[in-house]
Amino acid sequence: MRRVVLANETDWDGWRKATRSLVLAGVPPEAVRWAVRSHDEDGDPLREEQGSFGVSKALVSLASLAIQAREPSRFELLYRLVWRANAGERVLELDEDEDVRRARGLAFAVRAEAHRMRTQVRYLSIEGADPHFLGWYEPAHFVLEANAQLIAQRFSHLAFSIMTPEGGAHWDGSELRFSPGVARDVVRDDAGLRSWWGKHRTGLLRHARVGTAIAPAEELDEEPRPPDLPPLGPVVLPLKPDDPLQAAMHEASDCRRCHLWQPATQTVFGEGPAHAKVIFIGEQPGDQEDVIGRPFVGPAGQIMDRAMEEAGLDRRTVYITNAVKHFKFEPRGKRRIHKTPETPEIRACRFWLDVELVRLQPKLAVAMGGTAARAMLGRAVTITRERGRPIELADGQTAFVTVHPSFLLRLPDEEAKAREYRAFVADLRKILELIA
Ligand code: URA
Repeated sequence: MRRVVLANETDWDGWRKATRSLVLAGVPPEAVRWAVRSHDEDGDPLREEQGSFGVSKALVSLASLAIQAREPSRFELLYRLVWRANAGERVLELDEDEDVRRARGLAFAVRAEAHRMRTQVRYLSIEGADPHFLGWYEPAHFVLEANAQLIAQRFSHLAFSIMTPEGGAHWDGSELRFSPGVARDVVRDDAGLRSWWGKHRTGLLRHARVGTAIAPAEELDEEPRPPDLPPLGPVVLPLKPDDPLQAAMHEASDCRRCHLWQPATQTVFGEGPAHAKVIFIGEQPGDQEDVIGRPFVGPAGQIMDRAMEEAGLDRRTVYITNAVKHFKFEPRGKRRIHKTPETPEIRACRFWLDVELVRLQPKLAVAMGGTAARAMLGRAVTITRERGRPIELADGQTAFVTVHPSFLLRLPDEEAKAREYRAFVADLRKILELIA
């Protein structure tokens, strides 16, 4: 029996190297015991085996996710799959195979937890000479390292730490480090977390190790690459924990003002800095936004990001939300088909839009598309007639109507698409001038 001791629960590199060496040495799965180091124990020495073997990119990608699951048998399960694949079995085509089903189930759970972590960590703002955002999270799986890396890539200019019971991740603007974690009963609430951080910050950061986070490799012999997670759009500046919008966001997560909460995954609240001069209002979250929990991160968000960049607007400086905060859809087979929200749903959700408008007091409220324009102007709006100019409203707000980015995606002909895209960018440039 060969004993492999991995350095920690997410020692992807260790698992990868051991797997390579054991497969090449012909050690079958039933002759390997996998463990995570608890004291100073070592496993059996692994020899540098010569040779190579083929494992598909898809299997490596699956393993790199499933290894993050809080499931003790995952190392042997994944080794067995690699062993079988190397023996010529096309394992990923065996949908009913018990090993494949279990690995896919673990990967799915990890992905879901990764989404949750990336959208649900709320940060305390630690002011002072060295400003820092500090979050605490209790992950269901070992998703901290891979996701801290992703958040760091997007947050790049901000220093932050995310503490969990098993470990902490720390980004100082240039380097990601990992430290031991902190138990929940030590940091019971925000005040507890703040005071614990004040006492332990220096020591914790001094001893934190520079991170090599989990990352799937194309082949097991190759260098690790960034994690295989979907793009998310830029991370926006977190709100201060005592901001009224934070409380509203929390309350809205349980909204029952209309029936749309039932089939939807979650409420998708607005995001952006509380000092934003402009608020962009879409219709409702789409399929991806519903899963990820953030507005405009799917295809419409991507075209909007591109147009904003072209117009010179930095998405991180604007507030982005929707007229309706739940995804309305019709299930069709495995797909969820978008359905336009109706007036009672728009009216019910205006409550949350009002909370956002009152808190932000933006110079301009940009309604993108018919639903948002109806929500802002309180009547049906012909976009072509109202588009592209400031509209003073009875309540003192200034609205600006433009097309919805998905309209650009739906246009069938390339010429019309290019023309309408240019017109959208021109509207964004006007917006920039109006808020200057
Ligand atoms: N469309 C919207 O109106 N809002 C989103 O958040 C995404 C797509």
